[in-house]
Amino acid sequence: MTSPRIQIAPSILSADFAHLSRDIAAVERAGADLIHIDVMDGHFVPNITIGVPVVRSIKTVAHCPLDVHLMIAEPDRYVDDFAKAGANMISVHVEATPHLHRTIAQIKSHGIKAGAVINPSTSVTALDDVAADLDFVLVMSVNPGFSGQAFIRHSLDKVRRVRQMLERVGSSAPIEIDGGIDQTTAAEVVAAGASILVAGHAIFGTPDAEAAMRALRAAAVGVAIP
Ligand code: DX5
Ligand code: ZN
Repeated sequence: MTSPRIQIAPSILSADFAHLSRDIAAVERAGADLIHIDVMDGHFVPNITIGVPVVRSIKTVAHCPLDVHLMIAEPDRYVDDFAKAGANMISVHVEATPHLHRTIAQIKSHGIKAGAVINPSTSVTALDDVAADLDFVLVMSVNPGFSGQAFIRHSLDKVRRVRQMLERVGSSAPIEIDGGIDQTTAAEVVAAGASILVAGHAIFGTPDAEAAMRALRAAAVGVAIP
């Protein structure tokens, strides 16, 4: 089997919220594949970030597809609004919805990609019975809520087990990984089987987001920067 293309998804949670269009343009110039948007409600996670109107505004300036990560309670109440605001991919936490199968179908009904997210303490087996329905799986490699946390190394084994689970149902859906991705961990998660890499602090927490974005891709695909 050929390896999937590596996609880099800068997380704007670490960008300058007063200059979102500038920061998005910088990472797009550097070849970002997706713009990762972290939606938090202060309930499912202990932080409040971005809502539907901001996603709608980002859609008017971004050229990359919008990857909307819902860290909110009862995500099914808001999926339709985020889809209409311009999300191209929506992921929901297994821990936040008791009817994951229905929520996945709801996302797909908008003609966009549906993903399920598992927290560090959630077993891969929680996805067994929806695996064949997923367009992607998002493995959290930190506890969700904040940028700039340390990568949880157990996530590497988890990515391998998600890949095995997807293979069992004949799926080649990509595995996304989110939290603590930098130039060191990028290569490790790709080796484990992840192909969509979210990074906040490692890109926007540097003085030059454009250069950091290029360096991260080079690290992920194993190319030395001259
Ligand atoms: C964490 C968010 C992440 C976060 C990643 O809850 O889901 O997307 O922005 O930030 P870094 O890359 O700094 O760990
Ligand atoms: Zn995220």
